[in-house]
Parts: sequence; C-alpha cells; structure tokens
Amino acid sequence: MTDMIFLGIESSCDDTAAALVTGDRRILSSVVSSQTALHADFGGIVPEIAARAHAERLDLAVEQALAEAGLSLDAVTGIAVTAGPGLIGGVMAGVMCAKGIAAGTGLPLVGVNHLAGHALTPRLTDGVDFPYLMLLVSGGHCQFLRVDGPDAFTRLGGTIDDAPGEAFDKLAKLLALPQPGGPQVEAEAAQGDPRRFPLPRPLLDRPGCDLSFSGLKTAALRQRDALIAAQGGLRTTDRRDLCAAFQSAVAEVLAEKSRRALVLSPVPLLAVAGGVAANVQIRAALEHVAAEAGARFLAPPLRLCTDNGAMIAWAGIERFRLGHRDGMDLAARPRWPL
Ligand code: KG4
Ligand code: ZN
Repeated sequence: MTDMIFLGIESSCDDTAAALVTGDRRILSSVVSSQTALHADFGGIVPEIAARAHAERLDLAVEQALAEAGLSLDAVTGIAVTAGPGLIGGVMAGVMCAKGIAAGTGLPLVGVNHLAGHALTPRLTDGVDFPYLMLLVSGGHCQFLRVDGPDAFTRLGGTIDDAPGEAFDKLAKLLALPQPGGPQVEAEAAQGDPRRFPLPRPLLDRPGCDLSFSGLKTAALRQRDALIAAQGGLRTTDRRDLCAAFQSAVAEVLAEKSRRALVLSPVPLLAVAGGVAANVQIRAALEHVAAEAGARFLAPPLRLCTDNGAMIAWAGIERFRLGHRDGMDLAARPRWPL
C-alpha cells in the first residue's frame, strides 16, 4: 500500500526522533537528535534533563522530518508515537506532541510499544515473514522475543539484572574510558588478550534463556582492584586484556542463550536489534549460532538498530492495518511489557 504514510515519534530514552515511513517500507526521512552531550557530565542519563530536551526538540524534529521528506501533514495518513516503556517524562512529551498534531489535523493516532518498534524492524528493513526470533540488546533492554505477528510477542527470556549495553558502559567507567562505553570497550578489546583474565559466564549453568550481566561487571571490578593493589595502577595492556575478556564473556553468553532460544523455538530467522548489535564480535558469534541452527541471521543497519522514529512509524502502520486506533486518552506508560 504505497498510499499510506505514517509519522513516527520516539522520545522514550535519550534520543528525540521523528520519521516518515510508507506502507511499502520506504523511509522518506528519519531525524534523530541525540542527547548524549547533554548527559555526558553526569555519567548517565538524567531523566529531568532528558524530558526537558525532548519537549524542546520534538516539534523541531517533526518539522525537520516533514521538510526532509518534502511533505506537509496533509500527505500523512496517521501518527504513531512511543507510549512506553521508558523514562516517563520523555514518553509524556512525545505522547503530548502526537496528540497535539492529531487534534489539530484530525489524523488517527496509534500508540506503539517501544520494544515492538525494535522487534518489528526486520519487517521494515527486509520485509521478513513471521515467525522469527528477536534478540534485543541495548543500554536499557535485553530480551529474547519470538515474534508471531504485529502484536503477538512471546518473551523467551531476558536479563535478570543489567542490560548488556549498561554493563559495557559500567566497565568503561571502571576503566576510566569515555561514555557510551560499548564502542570504547570494543576498540580496547581489539588489541587485548581475552584469555588473560578468567571472567565468569553467568547463568550458563541454568537452563532457559535468562541472562545476567551484573556479576560479570563485579568480577571485572575485582580484577581491576587486584591489579591496582599489586602494581599501583592500570597499564594499557591490563585495560585492553580486561576489555577483551569482558567482551568475549558477553559474546559467549549471548551466543549460547541464542542457541537455546533457537532450540526452544525453532524459527527460520534470528534477528538482533539495539546498540550492542553494533559489536562485531557479538554479531559474529550470533551469526555462527544461527548458521549452526540452520537459521538466517539479520542485523538491520545500525541507525535502525538503535532508537529511531522510523521503527515507531512502521510499528504504527502494522498496528493500524490490524485496526488499532488510540484516542486522546492514550496514556504514557513507564512500564509496559510486551
Ligand atoms: O540501542 P541504544 O542506542 O540505546 C538504548 O539503550 O536504547 O544502545 C546503546 C547502548 C550503550 O549502552 C552502548 O554502550 C552500547 O549500546 N553499544 C555497544 C556498542 N555500541 C553501542 N556495546 C558494545 N559494543 C559496541 N560496539
Ligand atoms: Zn530502544
């Protein structure tokens, strides 16, 4: 259906995003305004700062998305907005922005679960069929989802503590590397020896697809402190070797749990989304597991793996096609399991 165009609005974490997407999977524009610099001095995302920045930037992001697509709101079929889960101030800012546009134009409004946005991205980028398995690995999320339809998700397992991106960020902090930590740790790890420090493989001894990353971080902290006590500080090689050991442990755990998920739920495709999917070693490990299980592996382009408005517009289109509509009573939900 080429005639359908949705505006997607996303503001549940630290990216203010708006995009225009067509019913035949074309991304006409996708604007992402990152708040990384605003939070840099605080060592993490400050919810109040995030909410205020979203409120300031949302209208601009929508205007820019329309301008880049060369369209006015007259050409739009409907408005999709992240209604949760996420930081409540940011989600509220997005929902209010979407309601304002819907009220002003009379366009239909569709509330979208942020996780559904990530989970449906392989349908936008590659037009894949159901069912498939989605491993969502970001700074805030970590779960295995079996996707059977636009609103048919089964959670096979997930983290019982930190998300993997959060663990990468905490390790970076321990080693005095800049944030976000994932890319920094990956760069250090590329020059390190993953065998020098034995780190645990959390929850591998337990059946199922649940994961844990906080123990891994604590084990890395102990190694760091032992080195500092013994040598009076950290050498470059120590930092590199710790990063390599940590990344290998995360890759191995994600790979083994993905293997189990594919046994529990044999589907033709393993897809991955979230910022951690940028990690080359982790990607390679997952690709290997998928190949062994006879499944295809799919990692959408990184700009569509991390938070963006296009995935929300697309999830809105999928829900709209199922007949979902929301009214002016659409609520922002900080917690909203799929
Ligand atoms: O999906 P995302 O952009 O934002 C949300 O968390 O919603 O993911 C960001 C997370 C950060 O924790 C970052 O450190 C991590 O993804 N990350 C990586 C890499 N690039 C980003 N982790 C490991 N290796 C990477 N190359
Ligand atoms: Zn996300």
